[in-house]
Formats: sequence, C-alpha cells, structure tokens
Amino acid sequence: MIVTTKQLFEAAYGKYAIGAYNINNLEQTMGLFRGNMDSQAPFIIQISKGARSYTHKAMLEALIRAADQIFPEAIFAVHLDHGDEQTCYDCIESGFYSSVMIDASHEPFEKNIEITRRVVEAAHARGIVVEAELGQLGGVEEHVKVDEANAKLTNPDQAKEFVERTGCDSLACAIGTSHGAFKFSGSQALRFDVLEEIQKRLPGFPLVMHGSSSVPQEEVERINAAGGNLKGAKGVNEDEFKRAAALGVTKVNIDTDGRLVWTRVHREFFRDHPEKFDLRDPGKIFMAEYAKFIAHKNEKLGSAGRLEEVRKLLK
Ligand code: G3H
Ligand code: 13P
Ligand code: ZN
Repeated sequence: MIVTTKQLFEAAYGKYAIGAYNINNLEQTMGLFRGNMDSQAPFIIQISKGARSYTHKAMLEALIRAADQIFPEAIFAVHLDHGDEQTCYDCIESGFYSSVMIDASHEPFEKNIEITRRVVEAAHARGIVVEAELGQLGGVEEHVKVDEANAKLTNPDQAKEFVERTGCDSLACAIGTSHGAFKFSGSQALRFDVLEEIQKRLPGFPLVMHGSSSVPQEEVERINAAGGNLKGAKGVNEDEFKRAAALGVTKVNIDTDGRLVWTRVHREFFRDHPEKFDLRDPGKIFMAEYAKFIAHKNEKLGSAGRLEEVRKLLK
C-alpha cells in the first residue's frame, strides 16, 4: 500500500527512523520488498533522476506496482530523490509518487525558498508531500577550518525560517554526512550538536539525513579481495541512527551500501565461477543478500517490527 512519507513520519517521530532506499532495477525492487517484509518494516522507496532515466521512468513505476501486488502487506511511500523543479512537477502530475524532494540547496537562501515554495504549492494541491533541503552535504576534509566546515552545515536559525516560509513537510539537513563511499577522511562524525539545535527550533518536525550509508568495512574488504579498488572507503556509524531518531531524524537515506552489496555479490560470483554466464545466477544471490541487508538496516533504524503498529495508525 502506497502512503505518504508524512503518514510514516507521524508514526515514527522521536521513536525510530524510516529507511529510504534507492532502487534502479528489478532485483533491487524484489530484494527491497522481501527485506522489509522479513523485518516487518514500513519503508520509503527512493527514485533518483538517474534511476528514472536508466531505463524509462515508466519502468520503475511498473515494477513497484507489481511488487505492491506480490507483497500486499507492504506499507511504503514512493519518493523522488533529489529532484529539480521540473522533475518534481513531472512526478506530481504522474499521480504515482506520494512524495517528492525538491533539492535547491545549491541556490542562495532566498532562491531556495522561492523554488521550494512553488513546488510545495503544486504538490499540496495534489495531496503530495515535499522534502526540501537546506545546507550542503559534501566531504568535509580534515584540513578545512571549523568555520568553513560549519558554513556548509545547516544553520539552525535558518532552518526554522526556511520551514515556516516554504511550508515543506520535512527537511534534509547537512549534519556532517556526504553522499557516496568516501564520507570521512579521518575522525569526523555526525554533528549531533547541530542536529540538537535544529530540533530545538523545530520540535516535532521531521528531519531527514542524507548520505547515511555505513560503508561496512567487511563489504569493502570483500570487494577489494575480489578485484575491486575501494581503498579508504568510510561511512556513518549505523549504531548512531537511533540517537539521531530521538533528535527528530525520521528518514535515513541509504543507497551506496546497497550498491556495495551488488558489487560484492557480482565480483565474488564471477571470480568464483568464471565459466558461468547466466545473469540469473548472481541475480538470485543478490536478491537474497539485498533482502538480508535491508532487514539488518531496519533493525539499526528501529523500524523493524513496526509494520502492524503503522497499519493500525493508518486506519
Ligand atoms: O543521493 C543520490 C543517490 O545515491 C542516488 O544516486 O543519482 O546516482 O541515482 P544516483
Ligand atoms: P549514501 O550515498 O550514503 O547511500 O546516501 C544516499 C542518499 O542520500 C540518497 O539521497
Ligand atoms: Zn541524498
């Protein structure tokens, strides 16, 4: 059953975070649904602009509709990840997405507000909810001075003003993470001090943490041992998700870790079976491994075992 992210956030706020997982293909879709059913968790499917054009935007929609029929118990939101204004309108008009992200975080503050406000108006008119972003994610290098590094993080006072003036439904905040497999160059970690200040100014308002892959070292070692070259890859400590959830983070975005599972499965499979060429052989292993991975993440997020509770709240 497709619901809005807002409905999921109302159930989760302050208690746990909902996993938001990117998909690009059939195998990820099946693994994602299985993993969430195995762990009895509500979840968010994220579709990026790149995912929409990988095959055709209608392809993922069809896969999700099919998965919804195969797994009638599932409760999930369909969300556009990092949309620009035009893509947001396209998704809003499609009638399929229940939530869109407008990412105008690269724009100056006033321009970000202006664009976000327009998208919010269009989305709300159709019952669709909007995630917006303030602050800039990105690899914060250790040699960067504290002032410079802090300037990229979300400013808590601006966050309050931004939410009030845009009417967005959730806010992606820059609190020290970055996208991809190389997040921290040394001892940096999540900036709980900044998160706390944001929550103080926006009590009860759902916050979103992008760039939340943990880049498990065991996964990186296995990939490298099977011919990969991902030296120095590092991610977020997944044992910190629940602390972030208690401070208002209700959506945690994870994509890179799933790509690492895919890479490990396929590299090891073809290393160990050089004579094979049926794509279904590694595909089956990947679906099972991806489902296991999703269930594990949901345990760390605290969303595992919440499905029935959410179903009751929706009635
Ligand atoms: O934040 C970006 C997500 O990991 C999606 O990545 O744009 O390569 O599909 P993508
Ligand atoms: P990761 O690269 O850490 O998986 O982050 C994904 C993300 O933020 C998608 O919006
Ligand atoms: Zn992101």
